[in-house]
Amino acid sequence: MSAKTSTIAVEGKSIDLPIREGTIGPSVVDIAALYKNSGMFTYDPGFTSTASCESQITYIDGDEGVLLYRGYPIEQLAEHGDFLETCYLLLYGELPTASQKADFDYRVTRHTMVHEQMLRFFQGFRRDAHPMAVMVASVGALSAFYHDSTDISDPQQRMIASMRMIAKMPTLAAMAYKYSVGQPFMYPKNNLDYTANFLHMCFAVPCEEYTSNPVLARALDRIFILHADHEQNASTSTVRLAGSSGANPFACIAAGIACLWGPAHGGANEAALKMLEEIGTPERIPQYIAKAKDKNDPFRLMGFGHRVYKNYDPRAKIMQRTTHEVLNELGIKDDPLLDVAMELERIALHDEYFIEKKLYPNIDFYSGITLKAMGFPTSMFTVLFALARTVGWIAQWKEMIEDPSQKIGRPRQLYTGAPKRDYVPIAQRA
Ligand code: CMC
Repeated sequence: MSAKTSTIAVEGKSIDLPIREGTIGPSVVDIAALYKNSGMFTYDPGFTSTASCESQITYIDGDEGVLLYRGYPIEQLAEHGDFLETCYLLLYGELPTASQKADFDYRVTRHTMVHEQMLRFFQGFRRDAHPMAVMVASVGALSAFYHDSTDISDPQQRMIASMRMIAKMPTLAAMAYKYSVGQPFMYPKNNLDYTANFLHMCFAVPCEEYTSNPVLARALDRIFILHADHEQNASTSTVRLAGSSGANPFACIAAGIACLWGPAHGGANEAALKMLEEIGTPERIPQYIAKAKDKNDPFRLMGFGHRVYKNYDPRAKIMQRTTHEVLNELGIKDDPLLDVAMELERIALHDEYFIEKKLYPNIDFYSGITLKAMGFPTSMFTVLFALARTVGWIAQWKEMIEDPSQKIGRPRQLYTGAPKRDYVPIAQRA
């Protein structure tokens, strides 16, 4: 136990609480014994001041705009690495050697197919189902197909389940897309790398040859790296909470996908693009800025603001560069959405309201424009986020299962409902 303590006074009684220090970032006051010693809980809706776990995976300094995976800056990983290397790093804690990388790529690649029966499962959906609805259901359904990797007490099964999910997410995501457009599913091609194979499964058709554009494949791979993990965000915390009860990993990841879907989280990329389309031209921006600032209007600038980043989201900077690269490669000289986005960003960054509240563009601000230019429909944006975040969810889930101090997650509450009262028979109720 740390020698440092913090003392708090609860109704006149002084209680010492240990302080625990991380390698970097804020220390924490360990309040685990507070209830036992004071009879009181702490109250922190939205966990704005609460660390829910100890973790060695991802570090964010929101004030400085820093994001590290296992200590490595996101900028360096996005510039020099590839997505599967990032997956290895997040799962195992170190960058792979060349032979470890080759072995990992091989193992992931051998799991890309899904059980043939899953095809029938897909056919039960309406064609106009939101692909995130299809993903929640189909990833949850993996636990009905892969019984040999659902025993969470077996490290070997945990690793196979992890490989399966990293490998099968692109297949399921592409199937969700193909189903929505009424095209046949394309089987994975294991001679392609992870991202090129995903583009193939999305955009190839059986009657024509398809070769993915390497610039777009590299850009999408980088987008996956940027989304791979983000410490204890809402969906990751959901995965950990679901996993803390001993639920199987496929069910836990399905829970994470459900949480990611919301517009305050992963759904923001879809919402941001819709907002840019609705704004339409730079002249209409001031009216939307005014709406965003109006306390009586629920409208928010989608793709702006973040719970942790009170500075420019480092992922957004890389994303903005990637957007320009992709539009350039596709020969899109004048994209009206990009014009609106750049002008909106410029105005918001100089506006007192946004400066004072430290609202900067987040990763979702530019990702929609890029994905749209690549040919993905808006409804697929959050699916791509889920595909990339799966490795982060799994790494965090594994870390939790392997942590000897882990317990079932069970928050407490401040009860403000009716005190105890007696049942009144229906005939006597007013
Ligand atoms: N537009 C206008 N005002 C905003 C915005 C925005 N996008 N975001 C926050 N604010 C205001 C908010 O009204 C509040 O004002 P006040 O203090 O006067 O009540 C203040 O800023 C603080 O906001 P908050 O809601 O208390 O902050 P939070 O940390 O709970 O919310 C957030 C963070 C990301 C949910 C929020 O900024 C938001 O809704 N942004 C738009 C959605 C979005 O882009 N989400 C993607 C996040 S990044 C990808 C991911 O990790 O999923």
